[in-house]
Amino acid sequence: MADHPEDRPPEEARLPEAGLPEAGLPENVRWLLSYYRTSEINGALFFGRVARAVRGPLVADVTHHFADESTHASLWTRCLSDLGLEPIKIGKAYQDQYLAAIGVPANLMEIMAITQVFERRVIGQYRLHLRHRDTHPAVRATIERIMLDERWHISYVSDALHDMEGRYGADTVAATLRRFAEADEEVYAKTLSEYADRMDFLTARYGR
Ligand SMILES: [Fe+2]
Ligand SMILES: [Fe+2]
Repeated sequence: MADHPEDRPPEEARLPEAGLPEAGLPENVRWLLSYYRTSEINGALFFGRVARAVRGPLVADVTHHFADESTHASLWTRCLSDLGLEPIKIGKAYQDQYLAAIGVPANLMEIMAITQVFERRVIGQYRLHLRHRDTHPAVRATIERIMLDERWHISYVSDALHDMEGRYGADTVAATLRRFAEADEEVYAKTLSEYADRMDFLTARYGR
């Protein structure tokens, strides 16, 4: 089983002094950080429900996962505050569209499969943000801190899915992951088209 990064320093120790928001783009940065914050809150609420219901060998990891997503929401709230920005109220988060696209997961295997797909999407989005050279140091430090946990989430969920192959069948697990990955592509494409004006700044200066 993957080790949780317990030995990391306190979160405050990693955050640099806050400075001005990312030059020229404070409103879109504020929106995106608020979107991340809402998404982490939704992740915590989702995993809180899973932690309350689950029994068996995954109970400790799933409960830790719930705590991690809560911490991530707190880190984004702190980051926004350090940048002098109030969080914007975001109506719906990424996960809300998942449930609309795939329905409510039918069992723990489906919960782990959708989590695997979602966590990969989160890490991809945070990596994209890190590649943006104008990213404020406080935002960069927050993403890097959160990614320590996100990597562990992918690792333990991947192990859990592997362990479930005996019960559900390797083919069923693989087919479920494929189905959810396709839904994720659709949801992400829809999100990009819906919020293009908000997120264009991340890619605008690259590839030239
Ligand atoms: Fe998270
Ligand atoms: Fe996560």
